[in-house]
Amino acid sequence: MNVVVAIDGPAAAGKGTISKAVAAHFGMAYLDTGSLYRAVAARVLDGADAVAAARGLTAEHLAAPNLRSADVAQMASQVAALPQVRAALVEFQRDFAARPEGAVLDGRDIGTVICPDAQVKLFVTARPEIRARRRYDEQAAQGASDSFDMVLADVRARDERDMNRADAPLKPAGDAVLIDTSDLDIDAAVAAAIRAIAPQVSGAS
Ligand code: DC
Repeated sequence: MNVVVAIDGPAAAGKGTISKAVAAHFGMAYLDTGSLYRAVAARVLDGADAVAAARGLTAEHLAAPNLRSADVAQMASQVAALPQVRAALVEFQRDFAARPEGAVLDGRDIGTVICPDAQVKLFVTARPEIRARRRYDEQAAQGASDSFDMVLADVRARDERDMNRADAPLKPAGDAVLIDTSDLDIDAAVAAAIRAIAPQVSGAS
């Protein structure tokens, strides 16, 4: 049976790092679903209509070089509030989740809406100041000049929008395992995720 691991949580909580590591550990496919919304956002910033961009998304759009920028992230959070954009991206995500080798999907609504039957659901979070510090360090290393306070304000604005939208808001599924990475290093956070997933993987084989 194919095992689906749903990993949700707010921006910069460590979902991406944990998801990639557990996918590699268990030999599963990995999809960063935020990249779908970011690719739509990048096209909107280039003048495209959001719904048309979501319906016409291609591998080339997903490989655009500017997807990790702060502008794209904020716009991603805005287009993600549009029900027609979300609806256009559901099938691609569910098809991915059906991969025979098993799949890890990270995002905001994977355990609640996209894959409510996932065998394992994790909700990865951390305090806003810690997440802003990580994002600030990451952006500063790439030469960005935003202050820490600007990055913190961005993180809070995105949390606010992602948690309070009407369609598929960010929230833990009732059966999600909570992992708070505020005081964990990467190895400890990955180990906690592997501990939560391993029983389901061995039970499925
Ligand atoms: O995970 P990320 O920072 O790359 O996500 C960018 C934005 O996309 C985020 O602010 C909210 C949205 N998103 C979403 O609404 N649902 C998902 N499954 C993934 C991302």
